[in-house]
Amino acid sequence: MTTHYYTASSLDGFIATADHSLDWLLKQDIDENGPMAYAGFAAGLGAMAMGSHTFEWVMANDVGGWSYTLPTWVFSHRDLELPEGAPVQVTRADVRDVHAEMVTAADGRDIWIVGGGDLAGQFADAGLLDEVWVQYAPVILGSGAPVLPRRLDLELIDVARNRAFACTRYRVLNGAQDGTA
Ligand SMILES: NC(=O)c1ccc[n+]([C@@H]2O[C@H](COP(=O)([O-])OP(=O)(O)OC[C@H]3O[C@@H](n4cnc5c(N)ncnc54)[C@H](OP(=O)(O)O)[C@@H]3O)[C@@H](O)[C@H]2O)c1
Repeated sequence: MTTHYYTASSLDGFIATADHSLDWLLKQDIDENGPMAYAGFAAGLGAMAMGSHTFEWVMANDVGGWSYTLPTWVFSHRDLELPEGAPVQVTRADVRDVHAEMVTAADGRDIWIVGGGDLAGQFADAGLLDEVWVQYAPVILGSGAPVLPRRLDLELIDVARNRAFACTRYRVLNGAQDGTA
């Protein structure tokens, strides 16, 4: 069971513009079934977690509504309107407790931290993040939501080109920075 942060980024390390636009990303060419693309990654997943801004983006922009079937934890201090009939819950619990629930729900399959970057960082702080996958788009944004605002040492374990994207996969070498994990 591996906990992944899988995301796409601009070359200068932003996963969205400051106003949460992904227009710069969605216009890029990718082979959805090609190297390190989402289809192959998603095949091994059993649970996922995201922050409220990422959730709200998906709800506002996914044509036809929520399309995920995985058990999902959305981190927020607010009461969010959830998709009907989908296994989605809002939480403000400690990431360690949520991760334990996700492991049980995933039943041996992998966990996906969708984003944003600080939420992935919270899992890393707790020593619970195993891998970081970043698909770099050929764009410089200059500012925006950072890919992972932490000091982390990583080991590059895979790299591939998928059309416009430089796809990278890293193992997280150091876990909790506070010595608790
Ligand atoms: N490029 C990509 O592939 C990609 C991937 C993922 C996301 N994105 C985009 O990147 C942007 C990310 O936005 P973001 O950086 O603001 O991150 P985010 O994680 O989506 O949202 C942050 C919010 O989540 C809630 N939250 C985070 N940690 C929490 C905790 N421990 N307990 C309770 N609530 C918590 C807080 O909101 P509340 O006010 O609700 O408490 C916080 O302001 C979005 O626009 C998203 O669409 C892009």
